[in-house]
Amino acid sequence: MNRRMKGAFLVLAGFAVASSGHGAEVTFEGEVKGLFKEYCVKCHGSLFPQKKLKLTSLKHVMKGGESGAVVVPGSPEKSLLVQGLKLPKADVRRMPPAVEGKDLSASQIASIEEWVRQGAR
Ligand code: HEC
Repeated sequence: MNRRMKGAFLVLAGFAVASSGHGAEVTFEGEVKGLFKEYCVKCHGSLFPQKKLKLTSLKHVMKGGESGAVVVPGSPEKSLLVQGLKLPKADVRRMPPAVEGKDLSASQIASIEEWVRQGAR
């Protein structure tokens, strides 16, 4: 491997680590709250939240909505909130809803997933 390729490889490797969240702790206050504010609180805020699910504070997120808990700490695959982010656009349970919402990027979804995996703190 020549020097330039090596440099590019290191940059890519660094990016992969950063985007998968390994090493750094993902916290509600640090990262997730801002994402919910931008993408979810319009419909899951304090006034008339959809399905009674408020995503404005960690306490409210953990309380869940009409379906009960939407986050299972340590288990993103069991968390309704994470599942919703990954459903196809055609699914009505997809979040944010395809018609009105703004899409999260793959790395933003990965951050939320990592936050749940780390225990949703
Ligand atoms: C445009 C409005 C809108 C936005 C934006 C939105 N939601 Fe929703 N959300 C809804 C509606 C409507 C439902 C009820 C869907 C249904 O009928 O099952 C819902 C339901 C949910 C539920 C299920 C709650 C329960 O108790 O059943 C979760 C979890 C959820 N949303 C998470 C999110 C997250 C996370 C975001 C941001 C990434 C988000 N939503 C953005 C409108 C929205």
